[in-house]
Amino acid sequence: TPPPLRDAFGRTVTYLRLSVTDRCDLRCAYCMAEHMTFLPKKDLLTLEELETVATAFIRRGVRKIRITGGEPLVRKDIGQLFDRLGTHLGAGLDELTLTTNATLLERDAERLHAAGVRRVNISLDTLDPDMFREITRRGDFDKVIRGINAAQEAGLKIKINTVALRHQNAAEIPHMVEWAHGRGFDMTLIEVMPLGDTGEDRIDQYVPLFEIRDRLDQLWTLEDEATDTRMAGPSRYVRIRETGGKLGFITPLTNNFCAGCNRVRVTCTGRIYMCLGQDDHVDLRSALRKSDSPEQALDAALDRALLRKPEKHDFAIRDRAETPALPRHMSVTGG
Ligand code: GTP
Ligand code: 5AD
Ligand code: SF4
Repeated sequence: TPPPLRDAFGRTVTYLRLSVTDRCDLRCAYCMAEHMTFLPKKDLLTLEELETVATAFIRRGVRKIRITGGEPLVRKDIGQLFDRLGTHLGAGLDELTLTTNATLLERDAERLHAAGVRRVNISLDTLDPDMFREITRRGDFDKVIRGINAAQEAGLKIKINTVALRHQNAAEIPHMVEWAHGRGFDMTLIEVMPLGDTGEDRIDQYVPLFEIRDRLDQLWTLEDEATDTRMAGPSRYVRIRETGGKLGFITPLTNNFCAGCNRVRVTCTGRIYMCLGQDDHVDLRSALRKSDSPEQALDAALDRALLRKPEKHDFAIRDRAETPALPRHMSVTGG
């Protein structure tokens, strides 16, 4: 069997985040600008090419694939990609999953479950319909709740992702935790990262998660979940004794987790980014489109890319005048 994907720091990549579109039906104020210029559709990898890329990673030891966007479910016929990738489950692949804003889950939840998806991460930053509209600039809260209900009814395990925002949801987070855990969902809190110009001030938005954790500590008993920090991924989890639920903290700004990084990202145009917080990337599309043996060319490109995986990101949110650390939006690499 081909060798695993190992980087220069001894980390092994077993997790691929595959973005299938840069588009989204929402415009969350920490993620996108009000007016976005999206890629022309002709620049996207086809569904067949996305499958070829994913398969190349599975051959090299990737056990988990997360489909991302933008919003992955706005990509036309995306169900077909889930069906195709689902055939690898139990044969190299342990988990096929996605991160979604849930607006289309009412339509797609059953189809995803049938393809082999067992868990979804759902981005939701508030339970207040007016605040939801303010944060997403155009979302329909009831549709999202219907999507969440449909996912639960289809038998999908749910994790809610919430970006902590000073003036929008910081005070509401204990209530959201109670709601999520009450419905049997896990939840993860995320520090806002300086990626892409959104027309909003990230200094205003940013909340260090230790502040939220201190508040939760006064309300409840937070018990650290044992994690093997090597290869654990970015989230650190606690179990809340009173709710019985799991709560994760993703703290790129206040507590670096990169020593345990197990992942790379591929964009919908076929670029591999070795780190969410760095701009270095390698083009896989040219390898893919080589008529003679694309498999070998892809393999060689992956080896080249992995050697360039940096030790860590260097996100910082320091002063108001600062332009975003990275010009690209989160939606290019899917978080
Ligand atoms: P699980 O499979 O549930 O562990 O999911 P996950 O946390 O890997 O994926 P998810 O899409 O839910 O990620 C939540 C958010 O965490 C992403 O949107 C990113 O904003 C952030 N995140 C995930 N991985 C990284 C990473 O490697 N570095 C940084 N800085 N942030 C990350
Ligand atoms: N900082 C932190 N999280 C972000 N997300 C999008 N943009 C940012 C940002 N700038 C989150 C979304 C979603 C995930 C895919 O990424 O809320 O949960
Ligand atoms: Fe869309 Fe997710 Fe970005 Fe919101 S955070 S605009 S739902 S991609």
